[in-house]
Amino acid sequence: MALERLRDAAEIVSTVWQRALLDAVVSPRRFRQAAPDFWRASAMLFHPEISSLPLSQVPASEDHIQMLSSGWPLGGMPPQDLYALLRVVKWIKPRKIFEIGTFKGITTTHLALNSEAEVYTLDVPREMAANLSGYSPGDLELLQPREAIGETYRPFNKNGQIQQLFGDSRLFDYQPYLGFMDLVLVDGCHIYDGVLSDSQKAFDLLGKRGAVMWHDFANLRAVTRAVRTLGRKWPIYHIEGTFLALHVRGVMPGDEQRRNLHTPSEIPVGMSSGDDR
Ligand SMILES: C[S@@+](CC[C@H](N)C(=O)[O-])C[C@H]1O[C@@H](n2cnc3c(N)ncnc32)[C@H](O)[C@@H]1O
Repeated sequence: MALERLRDAAEIVSTVWQRALLDAVVSPRRFRQAAPDFWRASAMLFHPEISSLPLSQVPASEDHIQMLSSGWPLGGMPPQDLYALLRVVKWIKPRKIFEIGTFKGITTTHLALNSEAEVYTLDVPREMAANLSGYSPGDLELLQPREAIGETYRPFNKNGQIQQLFGDSRLFDYQPYLGFMDLVLVDGCHIYDGVLSDSQKAFDLLGKRGAVMWHDFANLRAVTRAVRTLGRKWPIYHIEGTFLALHVRGVMPGDEQRRNLHTPSEIPVGMSSGDDR
């Protein structure tokens, strides 16, 4: 089965790259435009350190998933990624979520709407940002003034479920939150060292049970490289067809279906309903 998938992937990638090489010879300009997409197609399929996980293997919940956004907003997630993230949320039923990278707060809104969790979300306002070496022009544009950060979730946050935090994720004092989170979403800084640093914080933020998710795996090179580096040490899955990577720690309460999740030993079998943090 794994061999078959590998063969299929190799066939697709070699077809895509044959076409790309032809373009590189006959139309270098077209090649330059298409190259990032070719890279993404390859990165989606080949990531030896990271296991692939079909979304159907994330146990489904009977709870309805609420989605407000339909398109792929600038700086946000495409709908299929948001849906996959929310499926994980419905599965693990987090009580506390930490998001690194709020931007306008579209994903934050969805995390709050689809859980009963306290949602902490961290972003650096443009006027506070320093040490931006390595940031691409696109990433610099994503930096928002303080009042624009999280503007989407505000109308949905009458009950104070979402708490906005400000600061550079690489320097932020996470002390009050360490070990208390059930889900951490890494979706902020897009430079390699920044992703590694945010990821380390994400692992520290998790309690005994929970999940870390990364957005922009197989979409942005630095994020992909960082997650692949982490994949040498931690069991990490790529959720097929998305730009999401997932690491699961410990036993989630109330979910025996997770037996279906294949591979690493870190993914537990069995159930636990107690909170032993
Ligand atoms: C891709 S956007 C986040 C998108 C959001 N999670 C969503 O799905 O709608 C990245 C965000 O990370 C923030 N960011 C970039 N570098 C950061 C840093 N060093 N510390 C904190 N936030 C950072 C940017 O300001 C931007 O708002």
